[in-house]
Amino acid sequence: MSLTLGPRVSVRAKISSIGTYVPPKVLTNADLEKLVDTNDQWILERTGIRERHIVEKGVATSDLAAEAAKQCLARRGVAATEVEVIIVATVTPDMLYPATACLVQEKIGAKGAWGFDLSAACSGFVYALQVGAKLVESGAHKKVMVIGADTMSRIIDYTDRSTCILFGDAAGAMLVEPAEPGHGFIGFINEVDGSGGDHLKMPAGGSRLPASAETVEKRLHYVKQEGQQVFKFAVRKMYETCKALLDRHGLTAKDVKVLVAHQANRRIITATAERLGMSEDQVIINIGRYGNTTGATIPLATRDAIESGKLKKGDIVLFAAVGAGFTVGASLWRWEY
Ligand SMILES: CC(C)(COP(=O)(O)OP(=O)(O)OC[C@H]1O[C@@H](n2cnc3c(N)ncnc32)[C@H](O)[C@@H]1OP(=O)(O)O)[C@@H](O)C(=O)NCCC(=O)NCCS
Repeated sequence: MSLTLGPRVSVRAKISSIGTYVPPKVLTNADLEKLVDTNDQWILERTGIRERHIVEKGVATSDLAAEAAKQCLARRGVAATEVEVIIVATVTPDMLYPATACLVQEKIGAKGAWGFDLSAACSGFVYALQVGAKLVESGAHKKVMVIGADTMSRIIDYTDRSTCILFGDAAGAMLVEPAEPGHGFIGFINEVDGSGGDHLKMPAGGSRLPASAETVEKRLHYVKQEGQQVFKFAVRKMYETCKALLDRHGLTAKDVKVLVAHQANRRIITATAERLGMSEDQVIINIGRYGNTTGATIPLATRDAIESGKLKKGDIVLFAAVGAGFTVGASLWRWEY
């Protein structure tokens, strides 16, 4: 391996801690069989999902995000008052504004921090992590809390079998801090393709179609997806982006200890890994237990990689995601935690 680093910087960013939160209530495939015309076998074969967690009434995204952030800080032994920036990747903010980041700042007691929400759907966490890394590498900040959190059950139509089987609720957080040169963040590639915007969207509730009796009646405040279009794009772009990023840094798939990919469909992940020439051991798949939790899948899968012993200090990890927009992102890190 001859690792080529990205632009020369005097400080590198590293991920120094992780926290996750999954609400206790479980929605199984058998539960969904009672709501729509579907069955456990179809869901398992086509997506790899067995169950997902969903929130109880009254719980919102900032509640999940704050729990994940608190766990992340406790693990590192860092006080909330030391956090300088909070970035929340989400498509299900508590409200359009104020930003979820502000609500989380108050909930965890991160006095003096600033923050914002980042909207990039399923690529949100990967984008937020890269922004956090660059805030650290610029020398502007030393502790950035990056959170991916979504309460998808609030925007899912549980009469639409093509989408309701896919999604779940969760949050995950990572703390980004300075690292010595040669450690931590290696590089990233991102891309958006707005021509795919119609294939996955929530049509109403924004300035194009504000909430009205008509939008509610037409069920336009729910996720609408053309699954096959999204699937084809995801399989192609996930591979192309990972390959381009590895090539840019003089690495091959063998140099990567684990691929932590966004969990939208088991088949998208395995197809990407196969095309990259990765073994089963190099891939984290936990979609069976959580479904697609949008902003939270990458931290949830990273936590599993650590707990299963697949990801250790010094290993190279490849994060990759494709989401609504379309958005595409991948980043390479030397794991320092
Ligand atoms: C949604 C997805 C699982 C559907 O799988 P698919 O293999 O593409 O299935 P199709 O949509 O072609 O549907 C195949 C058949 O199954 C049926 N079907 C769809 N949902 C079903 C369900 N929950 N249960 C049973 N049958 C279902 C369809 O009606 C269709 O029936 P028909 O052949 O009689 O018309 C898949 O397209 C996917 O994962 N897409 C990408 C999702 C994604 O990544 N989203 C987030 C981006 S981050």
